[in-house]
Amino acid sequence: MSSIPVLTIDGPSGSGKGSITQMVAKHLGWHILDSGALYRLTALAAERGGVALDDAPALALIARGLDIEFLASSEGEPVKVVLGGEDVSQALRLETTGNNASKVAVLTEVREALLQRQKDFRQGPGLVADGRDMGTVVFPDAPYKVFLTASAQARAERRYQQLKQQGEDVRIATLLREIEQRDARDMGRKAAPLKAADDAVTIDTTAFSIDQVLKKVLSLID
Ligand code: DC
Repeated sequence: MSSIPVLTIDGPSGSGKGSITQMVAKHLGWHILDSGALYRLTALAAERGGVALDDAPALALIARGLDIEFLASSEGEPVKVVLGGEDVSQALRLETTGNNASKVAVLTEVREALLQRQKDFRQGPGLVADGRDMGTVVFPDAPYKVFLTASAQARAERRYQQLKQQGEDVRIATLLREIEQRDARDMGRKAAPLKAADDAVTIDTTAFSIDQVLKKVLSLID
């Protein structure tokens, strides 16, 4: 048990976790754990090393040995992620990387390999942890737990706007299909499936603006 407070923010992709995590952490002056980035980095390193996405022992080895740096950047800019000395921030956010991350994330060996690394992010004055199993597995004793949801259609539309801004050429119908496949994989897996912790507050963000969600989350803590 640690006395350092943690706010866990779990939910499916496109539920607004990433943005809310950034905003809450900034407001509170707390650290951030983007756990999805660790699964994405594992998938990316595997792809580059020619390792199959179902080769559990090889993937666990990669996950354990990831040489990563999260570099804070200037105001309003996303954090820079460096893998083995190379800036992989852009490759990391690609839809294919997210889908590959979801594939390696079904493997217990990979999850175990990343567990301690995630727990190590718990540092004072506090941590906002974004993922799928933050409240259920990684920080079960967290005093604040949120589960964000939204309809698949709303999430596909948000994702579409985000990817378009990043210059990715995508179609909403394709995104919706991929989101539904990813949800099924993330929720249906045996190891740490995506679900709300029993003591989490669930917020359906479908009809809310990001500022409304931020207010609700902060009201749980302030
Ligand atoms: O949050 P994200 O889109 O960056 O996550 C990418 C994939 O990684 C997601 O589809 C499932 C997996 N993941 C996970 O299994 N557990 C986490 N805590 C975070 C992500």
